[in-house]
Amino acid sequence: MAKASIVLDPAFTVGKTDPRLFGSFVEHLGRCVYGGIFEPGHPTADDEGFRQDVIELVRELGVTVIRYPGGNFVSGYNWEDGVGPIDKRPRRRELAWFSTETNAFGTNEFMSWCAKAGLEPMMAVNLGTKGADEARGLLEYCNVEGGTALSALRHQHGHPNPHRVKLWCLGNEMDAPWQIGAKTAREYGTLARESAKLMRWLDPSIELVACGSSSRSMPTFAEWERIVLEETFDVVEYISLHGYFSKHGDKSRDFMAEADLVGRYIDEIVAVADGVAARRRSPKRIMLSFDEWNVWYRTRDRATRTKPGWPEAPAILEELFTMEDALVFGAALLTLINRCNRVKAACVAQLVNVIGLIMTETGGRAWRQPIFYPFQHAAQWARGTVLDMRLACGTFTAGDGEQFPDIVSAAVLAEDGKSLSLFCVNRNFDLAIDLEIDLRGFDLSNFVESRVMISDDINATNTADDPERVRPQNGPAATRHKGAWHLNLPPASWNVFRFECE
Ligand code: AHR
Repeated sequence: MAKASIVLDPAFTVGKTDPRLFGSFVEHLGRCVYGGIFEPGHPTADDEGFRQDVIELVRELGVTVIRYPGGNFVSGYNWEDGVGPIDKRPRRRELAWFSTETNAFGTNEFMSWCAKAGLEPMMAVNLGTKGADEARGLLEYCNVEGGTALSALRHQHGHPNPHRVKLWCLGNEMDAPWQIGAKTAREYGTLARESAKLMRWLDPSIELVACGSSSRSMPTFAEWERIVLEETFDVVEYISLHGYFSKHGDKSRDFMAEADLVGRYIDEIVAVADGVAARRRSPKRIMLSFDEWNVWYRTRDRATRTKPGWPEAPAILEELFTMEDALVFGAALLTLINRCNRVKAACVAQLVNVIGLIMTETGGRAWRQPIFYPFQHAAQWARGTVLDMRLACGTFTAGDGEQFPDIVSAAVLAEDGKSLSLFCVNRNFDLAIDLEIDLRGFDLSNFVESRVMISDDINATNTADDPERVRPQNGPAATRHKGAWHLNLPPASWNVFRFECE
């Protein structure tokens, strides 16, 4: 058994977690919308065609905010195609994923689905093939109460009440060569600024996200953010980050270390954003919207991203996640939580079927992927104040010989200050760890419960026929020795320990 320790003091905090940290993403991609959240004719579908089995799982997951309609899809999307009578909506060849878009599901269906699932909508506007005027138009359609042409159109479409969408993304991954209408940083920054100006004039209550680079490994990284923020600093609240974690071959250690790179990515973008603020001598702080993140590598190459023949809702990007993926996912989520003073929104990409937390059969069953559980635990118990902990533990070697800690952890004091949740991933595949908690300035009076997720096979997945192969169980009780609490973390495990505080 290895040993480790954590020092916790309620006087040293990172900040409060924003509920929007527990968001996800629905794109018109593969079977995320069609056959995922929307399937008229499914045995559980309601009168609007929304799958109730999926809505129940979404509620159980505890998702707060949902980004829509893309992703790459949004950069070629005409929002007008997806509103009004369904039989009049055009079918289109969709150039982000080379499929046929029927437009049977659009903005109003999405808003109605969010209301039923209890979610905040987060909309993206098309700054690929469209621009400021289209963005203004969609905002008018969604948020203006009445008395204008596009709000009247919404009334005519059966939605008299405005949707009141607060959070808006100014395009998607506009630096990426694969993006429809990709731009240089200066071109995009100028367009985003002008779109933001119009949108704010129309509805000053909105919050805006400018596009960052499409990943930390892009050649545009950091310089793109600097230029875009130079252009948009006064008119946006957030810059976006996107991160997908890959396993190359059987390199489990490098894969485990991916979560640590999330922390570096955040710190680097904070430095760029604060550099722009410093040059303006501005106290304004741009916050981060990590609005696409997940493990994704099995279905990432071109051959698995598209299917020939312009199919409708093809089964693409349907990653079946493993126990190992859940460890990387959980560690990345804890890293976001530990940076909650700057990361104010985050969206797991994506919600259903497409690299999804939830899987479905079209016409059939729905089930939880292993990554569902770390998300559910954090969405439920990581609401509150994150403590700035000090962790001492063993390390493993990955990448170019760098050392990474065996444990990734986050400690969150509940809003009412009466309970503490400690989340831990043990990335040591061989050894259990005895973790001692050194408390300063407060006490954990009672151990309440623990949840642990482990598997006899690190590659185990959940399937429709075996949907609970990987799932959490009640874990061991925390024990007290000589005044200190001790926790047992099994090898390769996700853990949550919950305590009452004094
Ligand atoms: O989530 C899948 C795709 O990944 C999104 O459409 C795009 O924004 C990113 O490249």
